[in-house]
Amino acid sequence: MTQTTITPDGRQIGDVLMDLRNITLRFGGVTAIKDISFDIREGEIRAIIGPNGAGKSSMLNVISGFYVPQEGEIWFKGYRRGPMKPYEVARLGIARTFQNIALFDGMSVLDNIMTGRLNMMKAPIWSQALWWGRAEREEVENREQVEKIIDFLEIQNIRKTPVGRLPYGLKKRVELARALAAEPKILLLDEPMAGMNVEEKEDMCRFILDVNDEFGTTIALIEHDMGVVMDLSDRVVVMDYGRKIGDGTPDEVRNNPEVISAYLGVAHE
Ligand SMILES: Nc1ncnc2c1ncn2[C@@H]1O[C@H](COP(=O)(O)OP(=O)(O)OP(=O)(O)O)[C@@H](O)[C@H]1O
Ligand SMILES: [Mg+2]
Repeated sequence: MTQTTITPDGRQIGDVLMDLRNITLRFGGVTAIKDISFDIREGEIRAIIGPNGAGKSSMLNVISGFYVPQEGEIWFKGYRRGPMKPYEVARLGIARTFQNIALFDGMSVLDNIMTGRLNMMKAPIWSQALWWGRAEREEVENREQVEKIIDFLEIQNIRKTPVGRLPYGLKKRVELARALAAEPKILLLDEPMAGMNVEEKEDMCRFILDVNDEFGTTIALIEHDMGVVMDLSDRVVVMDYGRKIGDGTPDEVRNNPEVISAYLGVAHE
């Protein structure tokens, strides 16, 4: 059965795209995630919040397939997903950015973004080397897609600049560009606005909303700034010490007593 909801701002939220069921993840004696279940619906912007060490990044790593939980099930597009290699994850349509920027400092913005398409190339290596047929078509397609993203994120003027020379806010934007180059169905953002000034945050918020709106990309993001979370997200999962302590609309979560005492009542960086 197809279920569609229209949000107050007129966007369409579809069926469950990703379903996490009873996920438990341990590192030796540390249980980073304890029996957590939640889902992410198609077209949704879903936030994950909680204090430092709550298990948010671990959860994003489970969704991206980087960590395999000891217990629980992950369902994607109605199929149960087993352990996967990074390229398999990319081909499923899952892309991410990292809490600590992971770009190639010595390479240009353009080349960094191109690396986001590597997992999508299908032509065999020998034909790429010879620049024939399918490889050539792929190269043209890759360029076109990358140019579209560069325009979209307004970074034309820095396309040749080595990433190492860019200010922090722009590096974060290039990381977003690289994730988008993979044309993801679902985009995972680990603190996309951490360390940014107010203006950079506003830009990033706008880009996230535009990506969701124009490409229909489903987004799961971790964010500490509650103003941003309230503005951006359709639904919020709240984690504390590896447990889920809240799940609902921003308003529901904001008024949840357990969430207030564990997280919202105190200031966070
Ligand atoms: N690779 C790892 N090996 C061992 N322990 C880990 C590993 N990754 C995370 N942990 C532990 O799991 C718990 C959750 O960490 P995680 O990074 O997921 O929290 P977080 O909510 O993202 O925190 P922050 O807001 O500081 O980024 C912490 O106790 C952390 O020390
Ligand atoms: Mg984290």
